[in-house]
Amino acid sequence: MSKLIIANFKMNGTKSSIQEWFNVFSEENSGSNKIIVALPSPFLADFTSFRISIASQNVSSYDSGAFTSQISAEMLKDCNINYSIIGHSESRKFLKETDEDIFNKYNQLIKHSIKPIICVGEPLDVRENSSFLDFIVKQLESFKDIEDELIIAYEPIWAIGSGLVPSIADINEVSKLIKEQCRNAKVLYGGSVNKENASNLLINSNIDGVLVGGASLDPKEFANIAQSC
Ligand code: PGA
Repeated sequence: MSKLIIANFKMNGTKSSIQEWFNVFSEENSGSNKIIVALPSPFLADFTSFRISIASQNVSSYDSGAFTSQISAEMLKDCNINYSIIGHSESRKFLKETDEDIFNKYNQLIKHSIKPIICVGEPLDVRENSSFLDFIVKQLESFKDIEDELIIAYEPIWAIGSGLVPSIADINEVSKLIKEQCRNAKVLYGGSVNKENASNLLINSNIDGVLVGGASLDPKEFANIAQSC
């Protein structure tokens, strides 16, 4: 079955470097997995003519109004953006987003027919000191009874940008838990995915795809990941 392979550029790139990225990636990738690229906000509207889907890295939890710096789901839709990451641990941390904010963002996206990519995952102290599975169940509480298909990325915070990756058994355990909580979820794994570990993750675990940060910035490496299963 086709997998979902998502690049998260975070706050990296310029219009010309991203243009070059698309050129190289399109040449290198001949696989059939579904590709989504989450771009920095200023460039979202510039890259919707490629055959690759574009995602925003966040969205406002409000409709419109006096929310300086924020971008609404309606604005994203107007720019032909069909996916949005929400609940990324960096947004939870730096923008102090709560589970309630993230559920409100989810509702905004659904209202405008944009597919949310919902990120969950535990910090290191939770992994070491208490039940990290309970932590994830709590992050998913609002999404429990949703019948629509959900895309949920499990991104343990300690694995992001660290070179550490959980075992396949651990990833499978979390993926199973997420699917028990949200019956129609596609589960992705994110955190230090690269061209060396991608095929093991994609072939030997029960995940439906990967969310790739650092290693996605190199179009050749990302093409390698995209074709690793
Ligand atoms: P990383 O980031 O691949 O650089 O660990 C993943 C993410 O934050 O989505």
